[in-house]
Amino acid sequence: AEVVIVSDQDAAGALVADAIVQLIRRTPDAVLGLATGSTPLATYRALAARIEADGLDVRGVRGFALDEYVGLPAGHPESYRAVITREVVEPLGLTPELVRVPNGDPAEVQHAGADYEAAITASGGVDLQILGIGRTGHIGFNEPGSSLASLTRVKTLTEPTRADNARFFDSPDDVPMHCITQGIGTILRAKHLVLLAFGEAKADAVAAAVEGPVSASQPGSAIQLHPHATVVVDEAAASKLQ
Ligand code: F6R
Repeated sequence: AEVVIVSDQDAAGALVADAIVQLIRRTPDAVLGLATGSTPLATYRALAARIEADGLDVRGVRGFALDEYVGLPAGHPESYRAVITREVVEPLGLTPELVRVPNGDPAEVQHAGADYEAAITASGGVDLQILGIGRTGHIGFNEPGSSLASLTRVKTLTEPTRADNARFFDSPDDVPMHCITQGIGTILRAKHLVLLAFGEAKADAVAAAVEGPVSASQPGSAIQLHPHATVVVDEAAASKLQ
């Protein structure tokens, strides 16, 4: 992967937003792969500002979120459907019907994975996939042990990941036990991967992803199998790179 070390999250956001603006200029119906969590927020902020300043027409832009919790009530503010609407679709002015999130309804999850894969394939595939990385090394919610060839499916969240995400819920017990996530194989089909990471807590996961052996025990290391992966990190997240 190409590693770009930036001064802070805003610099990363500006860099990635610029790449996305160029993509949308070339391809007005570009397909964006969207991550949730804290890491991509600076990118979404910078992108919203660029779209506004440049008067860019994004009505044809399509999107696929990486993952969703299973079993949150419809409309729960921390469901990734709600988060993507609030943090991406509305501020960027995307067309809501063109932005998909995996279906975390327990009654639907049996076929939701296959449906999602079919929708991504029918779109022509993701042009640019934004990724964060978990302390456990997960990308999407592919926790250690996930097959490098996996497709969208239901997974159990690990305790460290539930603890990390408890900040978004009233009580740690409210964090769902399960999620539906694009697989590592799904993610690897995107044409360009952009993995973002900030802060010292991510340094081990970043080093394992960029320089470690390619292994299912470090899902982030799968980016080494991709011909066009860019890693954008601050000094702290880069601190364990050789
Ligand atoms: C989010 C996702 C996760 C996060 C990761 C880092 O859709 O799939 O892999 O990117 O858990 O989370 P933050 O950015 O909150 O540190």
